[in-house]
Amino acid sequence: MKIDILTLFPEMFAGVFEESIIKRAREEGKVDIELHNFRDYSKDPHKKVDDTPYGGGSGMVLCCQPIFDCVNHLKNEDSTVILLTPSGKTYQEQDAKRLSRKKHLILICGHYEGFDERIRYLCDEEISIGDYVLTGGEIPSMVLVDSITRLLPGVIKEESYQQDSFYEGLLDYPTYTKPREYAGYQVPEVLLSGDHAKIKKWREEMALKKTKEMRPDLKGD
Ligand code: ADE
Repeated sequence: MKIDILTLFPEMFAGVFEESIIKRAREEGKVDIELHNFRDYSKDPHKKVDDTPYGGGSGMVLCCQPIFDCVNHLKNEDSTVILLTPSGKTYQEQDAKRLSRKKHLILICGHYEGFDERIRYLCDEEISIGDYVLTGGEIPSMVLVDSITRLLPGVIKEESYQQDSFYEGLLDYPTYTKPREYAGYQVPEVLLSGDHAKIKKWREEMALKKTKEMRPDLKGD
């Protein structure tokens, strides 16, 4: 999969994309991530990318030209263009699954007070990572890249993400590791029993119980 990210702050991505699972996936060629500073596409003599809003109001608005030119340069028939904005559709694990099957994603990070409404015409989707406002679309882009990359074939073991919270619409079951007792807290006996059928049943019940308690809005209810 190819992911192109349009941002005014490419340095923000360094740590996240150069560590752990994403780093390995990039090195193994499972995902090809490229950052593009759309200021480089500005035709303004001072490389300006924003301007004051028509009709007045505070703050600066991202202009169409640099973003249109950058997207049009990168886009091909396999591309899905996504705008990260708090007014987009709320991102869910099912979107990560769906997007992990695409060949080419172009992510546009908004910044400052907003963007010219006409930038929406470039986009196939508008995504928000939750009902709160961040300073820009960089962190939301990282969230998409991380959640999508881990689902790409061969990046992590399929069994690992099949057990994840949300994968089948339920939260994950509780897990424990050594020691058997810590600070007076015991590992549930059933996990020490060696009875795999019993353990499987217990895990299913616990996933359902946890979902009902923590997230009654999910299908476990
Ligand atoms: N940009 C600013 N806040 C955002 C959010 N919650 N989701 C996506 N993009 C954003």
